[in-house]
Amino acid sequence: MKELTITIPVIEAGIDELPARERGLVDAARQATFRSYSPYSHFSVGAAILLDNGEIVTGSNQENAAYPSSLCAERTACYYAHSRWPEAGFTAIAIAARGTDGKETAEPVSPCGACRQALLEYETLAGHDVRVILAGRDKVYILPSVRSTLPLAFSEF
Ligand code: THU
Repeated sequence: MKELTITIPVIEAGIDELPARERGLVDAARQATFRSYSPYSHFSVGAAILLDNGEIVTGSNQENAAYPSSLCAERTACYYAHSRWPEAGFTAIAIAARGTDGKETAEPVSPCGACRQALLEYETLAGHDVRVILAGRDKVYILPSVRSTLPLAFSEF
């Protein structure tokens, strides 16, 4: 028997330290929070996915009175991205959120487990790493891949 320790690499950076294209992706995620439909949680999440073909697809959380029917911002974005451009691989995703006070969360927002699993499959389809940028008010966390956000992920491949 032996204990294994799994570590994940996370870079903390200021927004201005990001390359222009990724700053733009964070901005698109922030803008998407304003298109959230979240009358129940009052927590607005926005996601922006950069595709290999240069397109940026955004999504926001969409809630429903039948709560389990709601969908997170990340899955709204990735399901639309792949249904609109099935041939394009994902390059990067940025995620941002505004809390019940309407202000962007101070801490970078992190995708839920279900969204990580869904995004992982698109990373596998792309055949290369998809950078993950988690935005907070004054700092971002950058992870090199979706895989790194989900150690011991389920995979049937
Ligand atoms: N939410 C997301 O959009 N993405 C996540 O990764 C976690 C949570 C949404 C779901 C719900 O509409 C609101 O945030 C509060 O949980």
